[in-house]
Amino acid sequence: MSYRSIAIDGPAGAGKSTLARKLAEKLGFLYVDTGAIYRTVALKALWEKADPADPVQVVPLLEGLEIHMDYENGEQKMYLEGEDVSAAIRRHKVSGAASQVSAIPEVRAFLLEFQRKLARERDVVMDGRDIGTVVLPNADVKVFLTAAPEARAQRRLLELEQRGEQADFDAILRDIQERDWQDEHRSIAPLRQAADAALLDTTSLNLEQSLEALLSLVKEKIAL
Ligand code: DC
Repeated sequence: MSYRSIAIDGPAGAGKSTLARKLAEKLGFLYVDTGAIYRTVALKALWEKADPADPVQVVPLLEGLEIHMDYENGEQKMYLEGEDVSAAIRRHKVSGAASQVSAIPEVRAFLLEFQRKLARERDVVMDGRDIGTVVLPNADVKVFLTAAPEARAQRRLLELEQRGEQADFDAILRDIQERDWQDEHRSIAPLRQAADAALLDTTSLNLEQSLEALLSLVKEKIAL
């Protein structure tokens, strides 16, 4: 039997992971956050004091790299060399490093099969930057989820404030724009909308409305 797959791509902070997770929950599919996998490779580079932007330093680390993914209470956990790094990979420093290692062709090639294998074994909702274009070009549903940079920065600000962290709107906006630029301009698998992906702009939608819009896009393509 062949499994169904839903690819959700888009820039950082568009709400991909929250929406993809909720969608997967509703459909009973496995949610795969592929950014977390790139983050784990980036963390390895930082652990080894390698420059995440330098292929000469990063590529040798791929050999024998021990990355595992697991699910606990429906939550995706990442393990690096047996250590649960699910919280560590969310640090600000790792975000920038993940964007850098993800521009290295050997890193992308190394993770490609890891991601495809998951989709061969389960129904998945996979979120990332190149799922609809490269990883799962035959996905049943492809959605490009985006929102204006200012709206994404505003959401991030609220998230940080709710966690009691100090944050500055302008700094967050700059950071988002910088990561967008890096992700869109790398020469391999850049962030872009697949020709056959539906565009969902959540700038003026709240979470509930976004999920509803996403669900109706899915229902157009697959019988649930
Ligand atoms: O979604 P995220 O912010 O956790 O992703 C971290 C970085 O990983 C992001 O800057 C780009 C990269 N990435 C990628 O290149 N391809 C993917 N499929 C997912 C993430």
